[in-house]
Amino acid sequence: MAKPQGAGYHSPMARLLIIYHSKTGGARQMAEAAALAARAEQDVETILKRADAAGPVDLLWADGYIFAAPENLAAIAGVMKDFYDRCYYPVLGRIEGRPYAQMICAGSDGANALRQTARIATGWRLKPVQEPFIICTHAQTPDEILAEKTIPENDLERCRELGRAMAAGLAMGVF
Ligand SMILES: Cc1cc2nc3c(=O)[nH]c(=O)nc-3n(C[C@H](O)[C@H](O)[C@H](O)COP(=O)(O)O)c2cc1C
Repeated sequence: MAKPQGAGYHSPMARLLIIYHSKTGGARQMAEAAALAARAEQDVETILKRADAAGPVDLLWADGYIFAAPENLAAIAGVMKDFYDRCYYPVLGRIEGRPYAQMICAGSDGANALRQTARIATGWRLKPVQEPFIICTHAQTPDEILAEKTIPENDLERCRELGRAMAAGLAMGVF
């Protein structure tokens, strides 16, 4: 259906929420890259929020989501898990069908964190609309793991591409 035209009409902006947790900077850089790219899409309002500062209201506000989490001890990092724990039941049944994408930051694996996130999203009946991916920081030793991370440019470009694709899809209403 054609949108009404003329003075005073403002089409509602689509809203993208990017939620992340990060201890040594990897997932934060990934989330920031996705947010920067998404913000190039003028018809979408993009909010980037740390998991510990976010809650059910944020999830209800958004039309689509990107989740960026580190894998710790073969699971999504605890702060991210706490976000899901706090939000799961308050929004259950209220965000069904909304699109989401996820990216994981891991030292060497990341598969379990990716699976866990997908399961939680399935519980919410979110719709996966982009291929999830893991960015590996190759941190193996205690020193490497505790060091601040620098995500390489080619990996950041994948995050930007994800942000761009989510924002474009939301703007066009194709999800
Ligand atoms: C306590 C702890 C446990 C970790 N366990 C895993 C793990 O099970 N699998 C893995 O691939 N990486 C693991 N890592 C490595 C982190 O995923 C990696 O350092 C990543 O860069 C963390 O993301 P961040 O930089 O956003 O904090 C672990 C790191 C910490 C601190």
